[in-house]
Amino acid sequence: MSARRAPQRGLALVDLDEQGVDRAFRADVLEGLRQEPKAIPARWFYDERGSQLFEDITRLPEYYPTRAETEILQAQGADFAALVGPGRAVVEFGSGSSVKTPLLLQAIAPAAYVPLDISGDFLRESAAELAAKFPGLPVYPVEADFMRRVALPPEVEAAPKLGFFPGSTIGNMVPFTAVDLLREMRATLGEGSQLLIGFDLVKDTEVLLAAYDDAAGVTAAFNLNLAERINRELDGTIPLDALRHEARWDEKLARIEMHLVASRTITFEVDGEPFVLAEGESIHTENSHKFTRRSLATLLLSGGWTPLDRWTDGAGQFAVVLAEATRPRRAP
Ligand code: AVJ
Repeated sequence: MSARRAPQRGLALVDLDEQGVDRAFRADVLEGLRQEPKAIPARWFYDERGSQLFEDITRLPEYYPTRAETEILQAQGADFAALVGPGRAVVEFGSGSSVKTPLLLQAIAPAAYVPLDISGDFLRESAAELAAKFPGLPVYPVEADFMRRVALPPEVEAAPKLGFFPGSTIGNMVPFTAVDLLREMRATLGEGSQLLIGFDLVKDTEVLLAAYDDAAGVTAAFNLNLAERINRELDGTIPLDALRHEARWDEKLARIEMHLVASRTITFEVDGEPFVLAEGESIHTENSHKFTRRSLATLLLSGGWTPLDRWTDGAGQFAVVLAEATRPRRAP
């Protein structure tokens, strides 16, 4: 978090053990299962099968966020172009989506595209796809953990920057962590840069719950895949038939929570360590915070970003905000 700490270079970030298992995955799972209540960070959903299941989720009739945000990016290109201007280096936090990123790049005449991702494989794939779609556009992929300040390639040093963080991925973080991330993004991009960021909005509870507990059971499979991954990669013995997917709305914290709930008391091992999950007890696997106009503005401002403009889809389900890293001023 400190601005004095040297920014990361593009080094390999995933530390695999002799079996090819991510050491951070093992550490996070064991630590998370020792806690009460048990909780595992949502980032571990995204192995190959999990990433495929998430793609499937984005096409579900109940899962509106992807369609709503795509609608905004499609409809507001002229507005973005007017406010962003040409010649910016677009820095995307997380590998680009094959749909959303081209919509933005098409709209604004950027100078370069810099995708940041912790996974080199996803990164190279999406960078190659983008480069093929935009033959004249320089693409500089950087393998990095975007939760920390990143050293951008020297080629884009002089260009003004536009950060891009779609998908309401910011909602996966508790506000405390989201503010850290926004501040790190500001340190990465620099003063005077802009950020285009997606926020899923608070809405009818039934609509929210259905989006995270679809009729076809794809979100349930996505959630359960985490337990399957633990069994597969960490010598886990979790009886999968005793876990069921649950989506909850927490009104006070304005977030959807996903849990894996034990339908009977189970004992199991992970990496040789024994655990008990009592009947009705759960492993908390994800938070997805939802925002209001006020709450998203407060979050951005707390992270050093001043909102410039905001767009919503026709149904008012999702917001895309353009913000600016303005110079902090002394109190008047
Ligand atoms: C990728 C974090 C934006 O929270 O809506 C979808 C992940 N989890 N269904 C979200 C997710 C369950 C998604 N984000």
